[in-house]
Amino acid sequence: MFYYYGRKKQIIKYYPPPNFDTIVEPFAGAAAYSLNGNNWKKKVILLEKDEKVYDIWRWLIKDATVDEIKRLPDLTVGEKSSEFLHIVHAATKMAFHFKTIKVTPVLARNWEISKRVFAENLFKVKHWEIICGDYKESPNVEATWFIDPPYKGASGLGYRFSSKLLNYDELADWARTREGEVIFCEGEEADYLPFRPLLNLKGVAGKVSKEVIYYHSNSERRQPEQLELFRV
Ligand SMILES: C[S@@+](CC[C@H](N)C(=O)[O-])C[C@H]1O[C@@H](n2cnc3c(N)ncnc32)[C@H](O)[C@@H]1O
Repeated sequence: MFYYYGRKKQIIKYYPPPNFDTIVEPFAGAAAYSLNGNNWKKKVILLEKDEKVYDIWRWLIKDATVDEIKRLPDLTVGEKSSEFLHIVHAATKMAFHFKTIKVTPVLARNWEISKRVFAENLFKVKHWEIICGDYKESPNVEATWFIDPPYKGASGLGYRFSSKLLNYDELADWARTREGEVIFCEGEEADYLPFRPLLNLKGVAGKVSKEVIYYHSNSERRQPEQLELFRV
């Protein structure tokens, strides 16, 4: 919904569509999966441990109105802002460590785009649920679980609740016991589940990062082609 370091919006089409009426994103961030296509119409449960990110979602889900969003001022290049909602629009991992940020042309543009996105999409999230807490606090309902934690190793270090704070073996055990189906995103350092290559992502300066996926379903609802694609 908003610009966010590690957001999946650009590659969300590579992940399997949901087979269940409920989607749980236990590492919510900007929740790109739940907003993709018509996924938003389902029952959506988000968990987010960083209370600043949770506050953005609580505002969008509970309080924000389209009029209020349209009245939010634009950002001027060179001005300073201490609003976390502005700071995340820098979409850099350093954003989580800034208390104040100087507005760059990129940030000003991202904010302008996001305000439009908020106004046009606000109605989609009004029935969603957001819980501030650890991923383990998610209710184990039968659902499509889109699990996108801070990636193991260096690329997951940026967040306030970073890869350093996660026990990945515990996370793997927890993921295996979810009811329904699990779509699990990771990067090249992931070794704690039988991950398979998904795609290579070209980043800045031609740097390639590898996206991997683990898919698991304990339901008859999975599609045969998904079984083929994600057989482990
Ligand atoms: C890779 S981002 C998720 C990106 C999201 N899929 C998107 O499209 O924007 C991971 C998120 O997990 C959150 N997080 C980190 N540790 C957590 C934990 N133990 N429980 C819940 N959320 C956590 C981080 O604050 C961050 O927002």
